[in-house]
Formats: sequence, C-alpha cells, structure tokens
Amino acid sequence: MTARERIAGNVAGYVDDRTGAAKWMKKNLTKVFPDHWSFLLGEICLYSFVILLLSGTFLTFWFDPSMKEVVYDGSYEPLKGLEMSAAYASTLDISFEVRGGLLMRQIHHWAALIFMVGIVVHLLRVYFTGAFRKPREFNWIIGVGLLTLGIVEGFLGYSLPDDLLSGTGIRIAEAIIQALPVVGSYLAFFAFGGAFPGEAFIPRIYTVHVLLLPGIFLALITVHLMLVWYQKHTQFPGPGRTEKNVVGYPLMPVYMAKAGGFFFIVFGVTAFLGAVASINPIWLYGPYTPGQISAGSQPDWYMGWLDGLVRMAPPLETHAFGYTISWNILIPGLILPGIMFTGLALYPFIESWATGDKREHHLLDRPRNAPNRTAIGAMALTFTLVSLLNGGNDIIATTFDLTINQMMWFSRIGVIVLPPIAFVVTKRLCLSLQRADRDLVLHGRETGRLVRMPSGEFVEVHEPISAEKAWLLTSHEQLAPLELPEHDSAGVRRPGAIKNKIRNRISRANAVAVPKATATERRELEGHH
Ligand code: HEM
Repeated sequence: MTARERIAGNVAGYVDDRTGAAKWMKKNLTKVFPDHWSFLLGEICLYSFVILLLSGTFLTFWFDPSMKEVVYDGSYEPLKGLEMSAAYASTLDISFEVRGGLLMRQIHHWAALIFMVGIVVHLLRVYFTGAFRKPREFNWIIGVGLLTLGIVEGFLGYSLPDDLLSGTGIRIAEAIIQALPVVGSYLAFFAFGGAFPGEAFIPRIYTVHVLLLPGIFLALITVHLMLVWYQKHTQFPGPGRTEKNVVGYPLMPVYMAKAGGFFFIVFGVTAFLGAVASINPIWLYGPYTPGQISAGSQPDWYMGWLDGLVRMAPPLETHAFGYTISWNILIPGLILPGIMFTGLALYPFIESWATGDKREHHLLDRPRNAPNRTAIGAMALTFTLVSLLNGGNDIIATTFDLTINQMMWFSRIGVIVLPPIAFVVTKRLCLSLQRADRDLVLHGRETGRLVRMPSGEFVEVHEPISAEKAWLLTSHEQLAPLELPEHDSAGVRRPGAIKNKIRNRISRANAVAVPKATATERRELEGHH
C-alpha cells in the first residue's frame, strides 16, 4: 500500500467510524443508470442552476436594490449627470466599474436563458416519451412548478436593473395584476406599496429573487432528484430491458466522470457566450421613466409567448357596477396561462383517465407509437410558438417589411387555426411512421439496388432487418380502446352513461394505430422473399 492510499484509507475510516457512511455510499455509488443523450437535458437545468447561484451571488456584492434617486457619475459618458435610481446606477457600475462585472452579468443572464431552454426541452423529452406516467406523476407536477417558478424568477431578475426595458415589463405585470376583477387594483397597490412605480417594488422583488425563490428552487430540485433516485430512471426499450430492471452503467465511476465533465461543458459554453455575446446592454436603454418606451422592446424568450398573447388581444372591456373588467388583459394575461399550466400539470391524470391505463411504466414510448399524445404536444407547441412570434411582432414587421396589422391578424387567426392543423398533421405523420415501421419489419430495408427481372420488370432489393431491430419495432404495446358500459343488462341507460360515452370516444381516438407486424405475418412473408 502506498503512503497516499494509506492516508486516504485512514481519512475514509475516520469518517465512516463517525457517520457509518461507507455502507450507504457503497450501495448508492454503484446504482445503475440507463444511458441516452436525452437524459442529459435534466442535467443541463441542474448545472445552469448552479451557475446561476454562483454568478448571482457575485452580483449581490455590488447591486443596490434601491429606488433612491442618484445622479450618475460613472465612466459611461452618454449617461453622465442623468438622474436615475440607485438600482440602475449600481447595475451600470457592475458593468463598467467592477472588474469582471460585465462578464458575470452576462454569464448570469445567459445561464438564465439556457436554464429555461433546458427546462422546456427536458419537459418536451419527458412528455413525448411518456416518462410522466405512473409512478412519476408527482415529479411531473414538481417539474411544472419549477417551470412556472423559472419564468417568474427570470422575469423578476431582468426587472431588477430598473432600466427602460425592465420598467416596461413591470408596467405590463402591473396591468395584469390590475386586470383581476374586483381585487386587482387593491392587489397592485399592495404589491407596489402605492401607485406605480413607487419606491417599494424593486427592494421587494430583490428579496424574492435572491432569497425566497432560490430557496424554493433548491427544495424542489432536491425532491425532484430524490424521486428520480427512488423511482429509478426510465429507459428506452432495448435488448434485455424490461419494466422490472435497469440496464446501464454504475454511477461511480462512469456517471460521476460523465456528469462532472458535462458540468464543465455547460459552464464553458455559458462563459463563452457571456464573454462574446452581448446580452441585456442596459446602458443603451437608459433609466426607466414611466412616460417613455423604446421601439422594439422585447421580453426574454420564456415571457415572449405571454407578451405575444397580450399583444394580439382585441380591445374588449366591460363596465359593470362601477368596475371595469379588461377582458383584453384578463383573458390572455391570466385565464389562458391558467388553463395552459393547469392542463400541463394535470396531463398525466387526463391521459390515464382517457386510456384507462393505470399501470406503472418504466419503459419509454417512441413518440410515433403514442400518436394522440404526440399530436396534442404538437398542438400545444404550435399555439405557444405563434404567441411567441407575436411577442416580437414589431421586430418581425420591420425586419420582413410587413405592417404590424398583418402580423396581428396572422397571429390572431393563426393561434386558433394552426394548432388543430398541427394536431391532424402530426397524428397522420405518426401513423405513417408506424406504417413505415411495419413495412420495415415485414419487407426489410430498401437497399437502393435495382434489379431487372427476367420478365423485364425492375424491382428494388430489400434486405431483412436484424432480429434485434425487428423486436425493437414491435415491442411496444397497442392498447385496445375502452368499452365502458353505457347501458345495463336490461338495456336501460346507466347513471354516468354520458361520462362513459365520452371516455369511450376519447379512448377510441387514442387507440387508432397501424397494427404492428406479427411473427406469423413475418414468417408467412419470409417464404416470398
Ligand atoms: C429546475 C428545473 C429542473 C431540473 C434541475 C430537473 C432535473 C432533472 C434531472 C437531472 C433528471 C434526470 C435526468 C433526465 O431524465 O433528464 C430529471 C428527470 C425528470 N424530470 Fe426534471 N428537472 C427540472 C424540471 C422539470 C420539468 C419542468 C418537468 C416536467 C414538467 C420535469 C419532469 C421530470 C420527470 C417526470 C423526470 C423523470 C424522467 C425519467 O425517469 O425518465 N422536470 N429532472
């Protein structure tokens, strides 16, 4: 034993005597994880969260969350002598006076953008592969919570510097709060400590941004990962993989090395972007004054869809009993997002209700084999994308030489018409892909080699696919539709008949599939090849 090994052994023994950690570590460090590139998406969220905590802590050393009026006297000439809030002035100082400050601000902002991209793409992976099914519904709901908090946290973050852009965003948030019937104006007064913009809002959102929400994030992410640990990770179907086992590599050393390396890749990419790509150059916007707004004001991308929805709403208002109800803000700003996020959170339950499938699932679906789910996902994505596009309606209009009205009408009509089209097209695509799989199993792979038969006919030579591939393409389940009774044995409508009828209908739509190739069909055809 070398001296180094002896020292390491002594240290480990010392710790183990006092904590009993060795047994626990031995069990958990050898835990097996399945491998697929898409499982790294959750890790991107995790690592960018760590980067956010570190870079954010750096920023708190200099940022002054105060609305106190100061006269700018820093090194950025165009703003010299201007009155502004201490929050804005200190952000300018971080950018121009503090060594490495601008780099840290930009790393923090890029990390937030990557965090949100990571969350959304991770969510899509979980959704389209059906990883949210029993027993992972709670983790899905925690995920929806993290997504919602991420949006709020990001918004509060870019609202802190009190520049012209962020003040405009806060003004929209105030309008959305005010749109709540009856209590809205009181709530807005409460949040802002009086009339807009007041002195209280920035210090308040600062506490929420650096203390409350990061604390909740830490707690939720910990529970999220503990659940992944406890329930084990899902895996794609493959040789030897069943609903009851996990095929992959052990955490130590394979995943420790991979995860460690991947952290530095994420950190490297974020630092590179922070170093070379300007983000939120607040000195160009100037300090916030409620009477001004600059052309081309854009929120960060994860807020863009909400802004886009508000921008496309027609001017609808009702005046009743001395109150004004602003439907044009209430519907796009609160009701639609409420429906979207509630629907998202409840999706696992809605799907199992519709299919009647209450079993556990640890093997993932290929999106084509769940056409309805995939089509619903494409529909929701299309809705969000059209809204997001409209969030940049002014920029798109000037870039492509359109009028703002053309953009507006495209979005108003598109947001209603395009999602159902996306549903139908995606469902057909999934079914076609299922048909292609079936052909592949039955007739083999097209080789691209054309052969002329003695009769003069040209045929393409097909090559049988491997047994492994054939198994992969046929291992998925095809659920039969539900047949819930609508009448009792005497032919009389049962109570709950309408509910059963609806469930039967939905489940029938859900069960539409191209029958997968069976072994008998394959054997029969083998004789012909
Ligand atoms: C702060 C944000 C988040 C972090 C740090 C995070 C982290 C992770 C990690 C590291 C994994 C394991 C690797 C993987 O499957 O990618 C995971 C799995 C999972 N996540 Fe997230 N996640 C976040 C947000 C979300 C969101 C928004 C959802 C969905 C609404 C979600 C739902 C799930 C589910 C259901 C699993 C289990 C997947 C499986 O076993 O296949 N997560 N998460």
